[in-house]
Amino acid sequence: MRIDPQTYPDWLQADLRSDHAGETGAVWIYKGILAVSRDPDVRRFASDHLETEQTHLAGVIEIFPSGHSRLIPLWRIMGFLTGAIPALLGQNAVFRTIQAVESFVDRHYQEQIDRLDREALFPEVRDRLERYRQEEVHHRDDAADRLAGRSSVLIRGWCALVSFGSANAVRLAKVF
Ligand SMILES: [Fe+2]
Ligand SMILES: [Fe+2]
Repeated sequence: MRIDPQTYPDWLQADLRSDHAGETGAVWIYKGILAVSRDPDVRRFASDHLETEQTHLAGVIEIFPSGHSRLIPLWRIMGFLTGAIPALLGQNAVFRTIQAVESFVDRHYQEQIDRLDREALFPEVRDRLERYRQEEVHHRDDAADRLAGRSSVLIRGWCALVSFGSANAVRLAKVF
């Protein structure tokens, strides 16, 4: 890769710090699901997605090798719980949670792509984020396709908490 991360503006470093934290969390969400669920469909779903998230994490490290969040242990724990808790509640809870998380990640990446486009900066970074965004959208749609029936109030409340938590995690990870 020809780009030099030292030349990234501060805002891009903050965004990539949150991307690295987010992809770490994503890896651990799927690990959390796999630690708990015995459902073969859920396990296949989670191990397929886990593989993609591991390539995302490696890819973000490639374009942003240092200056990572100091809260990585926290992002791992939060990710693990975000996967393990719905896995205790069953299939629908897992798929709704992934739908909520990946919808958030889609918007998160889109904002960065839009800014890179506006400022005509780092097309390699932009294209990579766009590729990842498309894969997150695929994860979201894969989860949505597997949903059956309406979700309980408990699951809907949990998903609202997950979306709220994701937004605050990004805010924190940009700084710490
Ligand atoms: Fe990802
Ligand atoms: Fe994903």
